[in-house]
Order: sequence, then structure tokens, then C-alpha cells
Amino acid sequence: MAEKVYQCTVSAPVNIAVIKYWGKRDVGLNLPTNSSLSVTLSQDDLRTVTTASCSKSFEKDTLWLNGHVEDISTSKRLSVCVEELRSARQGLEKEDDSLDKISQLKLHVVSKNNFPTAAGLASSAAGYAAFTEAVARLYGLPWTPTQLSRIARQGSGSACRSLFGGYVAWEMGELHSGADSVAVQVEPVEHWPEMRVAIMVASAAKKGVSSTSGMQSTVASSTLFQKRVKNIVPERMQAMKQAIRKHDFETFAKLTMTDSNQFHACCLDTFPPIFYLNDTSRAIIRVVENINAAAGKTVAAYTFDAGPNAVVYFLEENSAYVLDTLYAVSRNAQGWEDSERNPTSVKIDDVASETVLSGVSRVILTKVGDGPRLLSSEESLINEDGTLKDA
Ligand code: DP6
Repeated sequence: MAEKVYQCTVSAPVNIAVIKYWGKRDVGLNLPTNSSLSVTLSQDDLRTVTTASCSKSFEKDTLWLNGHVEDISTSKRLSVCVEELRSARQGLEKEDDSLDKISQLKLHVVSKNNFPTAAGLASSAAGYAAFTEAVARLYGLPWTPTQLSRIARQGSGSACRSLFGGYVAWEMGELHSGADSVAVQVEPVEHWPEMRVAIMVASAAKKGVSSTSGMQSTVASSTLFQKRVKNIVPERMQAMKQAIRKHDFETFAKLTMTDSNQFHACCLDTFPPIFYLNDTSRAIIRVVENINAAAGKTVAAYTFDAGPNAVVYFLEENSAYVLDTLYAVSRNAQGWEDSERNPTSVKIDDVASETVLSGVSRVILTKVGDGPRLLSSEESLINEDGTLKDA
């Protein structure tokens, strides 16, 4: 008889930080030098789907990520996550004899993103969050998202924030063990569901300097960074939480833009310097400034991660105004097909307008969304007999 295949399928969201994580105080445990805060994006538009499975017939722990096979034991980050989840399952099996002994079975994990990997779209965040959530559910661990976030953090720092929907803080913690370096929800999506997001893809290529090595160089050489982590981020975290609680978009937007600018200033202050923004990114900053100047108040906010793609936040009530202008400067980009736009009344800088027009290839329109979802067996990436679907 064929061996039984246990499996579970989930999806997890992308998150985009508005107070940036940049710098590790402990590389092994992936502990940050500062707390950070993000908005979770809707899985209706961007998500990682992951099926975790285990069976006696599997020979080694394996991951298929967007079709590429990886031996889990050769990735330190993946192994750390698997070891912790497995030993938690083992604990449950010791306590309760009626549970199937699945902790010793090898894992097959299949994961797919519906967006380009390593495009600066925080794919590692959704990826490790989905991985952690899928294995934890396969093992039936009665853990809270905060407890799971401690595991996902060790895979990729920003992943810990993708275990919640809405507005999420990663509190840096104080303990050497990292036990208190976890994600907590600041507010759920329902608190401020009007938050809208336009991602302007300036390059879908793999980023030049990885976050991990970039951070290390910044910690080692930037003096501006020292001031940022000690004096600036702690206050900004408080101010950002307040702004979210009070639905204060102007404060939210100003903090978002200044924090993105300061993160990239720290990159420039790194020696040798790191450049993530390109001419298109800077032109988008100009266009957002044009939008806010014409509105007479801050209605749109840009932020950039470790790559040139812009993420623009705005509220539903200003959607038409903001999007008409973004459309005017990126009308040739993929992604506008379903959107009916009017001519913009905003006076846009000519050079910026041309630069964005030739530099942005794709636009993704989305909004704030919920946390990881448990999917039905129909959405599984693995057949009942353990073979891969679409393989
Ligand atoms: C710029 O989470 O990718 O997106 O912990 O080394 O995997 P590792 O880094 P990662 O860094 C993300 C950095 C950022 C800012 C942020 O998301 O807060």
C-alpha cells in the first residue's frame, strides 16, 4: 500500500515597511538593531502559496521554490526553521500518544509566488512566513502568530511581520536569546482598511547587493546609522503607531517618506556606498512631491526597500487623484488595463515625467490586507500521492 501523505496548504502576504529594518545585532539569530513597522498587502494581489507535506516515502527534506529544487539541509536559514518546528511537534507527540508520529518524517515543501522573486518586493518575507505557517499547521502546533514570528524571523527578518495582517510592528527585543524579538499587530486591517498601495516596478531584476550583506556593511561603517538606531527609530516607532491608531495619514506619510529617505541615506553613508535607488526611483519621488504640492497637503507617500521599485501609499478617498497622476507618468506600464483613468490636473515636472514613463514597466495596484490564510486541498501544490502538481 502507498504510504500516507500528510499535507497542508497556506498563503502568506507581502509586507512593506514604513519604518525600515536595516541592521543586525546578531547575525546568527537574525536579531535587528532596531524595531520596524510595516503594512501587510492584500493577498488577492500578491501572495506566496505554500504546501508542506510529509510522508514515510520521502527521502530528504526538500523545497521546490518557483520550480527550483533545494535541499533544505543545505540552507542554514531553512534548516533552523525546520528544526524548531519539528522539535515542537516532537514535544506534542511525547505528550499525546494518540498523535501520528510525523515529526521524524521527511518534509516536501512546494512554494510559489505570484510576483517576481528578488524584485525588491519582499518575496523572502512572504516566502518564509508561508513556509513557517504551512509547516506549523501541518504539525498542528497551537502557536500564536507572535510565537510563529520568532521562527520566521530566523529565516528572514522581514518575514516575521508577514504573520499578521494590517499594521504590524517587529519589536527588536532585548534578550540575547532573541525570544522577545517578535512581531505584534499594531492594528488589524479593519481598523484602517482605506489604505491603498501602488507598486511601481522600476526593475524586476534580482537586486545588486543583498539585504543581508548590505546591512552588515552599514552596521560596520555608517556613523549616520548609529544615530538612526539609537535616537531616531525609537521615537518614530511611537509616532507611527500613534498615527495609525488615529488614522492620521499626513503623519503616517511624512514618517514613511522620511524613514525611507534615511534608510537610503544610511546606504549612501556605508563604505563602500550602496545604491538601491535609480533615476526612475528619484523621478517617482519628484512626482509624489508634485502630487502633494498640487493637493496642498500630503495625500501620497513613497517608500523604497533594497531595490529601485517604489511603493506609494495613499487613502481610498484620494485614489482617483493619485492614480490619475501616476497613470499619466506610467501609462505604458503593464497593470493599468483594468483601471479607467482621467487626465490629471497635477503639474508634473517634465524630466521626472519622461524618466518614469521610460523606467516603469509594471504597476501593481493593491491595498492593506489580512494575515496568512489556510487554503483548501484544491489549492494544494501537491497531489494526494505526494507527487508535485504541474510538474
Ligand atoms: C529594506 O528581511 O530581506 O526590506 O533578515 O537578511 O533576510 P534578512 O533581510 P530582509 O531585509 C529587509 C530589509 C528592507 C526593510 C524592511 O523590510 O524592513
